[in-house]
Amino acid sequence: MATAPAKLILCGEHAVVYGRPAIALPLADIRATATVAPSPAGRGPMIHAPDLGGRWHVAEQPTDPLSRLVITVIERFGLPADVEITIRSAIPIASGMGSGAAIATAIVRELLAYGGQTLPPAEISAIVYESERAYHGTPSGIDNTVVAFEQPIWFQRRPDQPPLIEPIVIGTPLTLVIGDTGVRSPTRLPVGAVRERWQADPARYEALFDQVAKLVVAARTALAEGDAVTLGRLLNTNHELLRDIGVSSAELDYLTTAARSAGALGAKLAGAGWGGVMLALTTSDQAPVIAAALQAAGATTTLVTTIAATG
Ligand code: PMV
Repeated sequence: MATAPAKLILCGEHAVVYGRPAIALPLADIRATATVAPSPAGRGPMIHAPDLGGRWHVAEQPTDPLSRLVITVIERFGLPADVEITIRSAIPIASGMGSGAAIATAIVRELLAYGGQTLPPAEISAIVYESERAYHGTPSGIDNTVVAFEQPIWFQRRPDQPPLIEPIVIGTPLTLVIGDTGVRSPTRLPVGAVRERWQADPARYEALFDQVAKLVVAARTALAEGDAVTLGRLLNTNHELLRDIGVSSAELDYLTTAARSAGALGAKLAGAGWGGVMLALTTSDQAPVIAAALQAAGATTTLVTTIAATG
């Protein structure tokens, strides 16, 4: 069995598509898993995904993104093709938690392991990026990177060269409460809307992205110093900027306000927006209080997760 973690973008989403830095965190305790078992000779690969509600022959649904991923990996690495791949995932889909990237990463790792091969994280990340493009169009690459490397990262696209990817220092453990709006929003919709607005008024959006970049730089320092109070303030600022960029929603605003009123150090939407999840930074003692407040405010699911200190 191979597994891969969920992820959250701590700060910098959307601006990251336009060359600004972002910070992403793997969530070690919320995972997708893939298991490969042999299937009858000549049948070819099958995918069984009980949580996604399906079981299908890859050959019969060749345009499905997961089918395409499986075909690509088996062909490129000469792996056994008569396999049944079972996927399970505890990660809500279309919610900003990297479900697609985690499932794809687990599948690639498991198919390779079954064929007696391994690849470094950078190469797995590149394969998953290709697969993510089928869902999202023009993803920045941050999701596949944080999931495949499974460590907190600083990520920045650069013209004409690979993205800058650096591990970041977490000075003290972080407690995050995640609240799900229950609204499923495919990443490409808000990403496409932001692109249209940016094209219509580049100066305004470039200025907003620059403000996001500034707070992401400050957040990196606050993380390294273990300064949760400053980090919380920066997350609140990031939420305001995401509102200005036009990717928040009534539910996301309501949940972030509820978390702050219940004593969170900071709260923001996480991921592409218009739905999906928000995150609140809190002390570990306060986490159950924040989770209860989010539930009372209408969150369909709440999760408490801890990001370990590095080094
Ligand atoms: O996949 P999500 O919902 O976590 O959002 C992706 C983050 C964006 O910055 C909005 C898009 C991207 O490709 O980086």
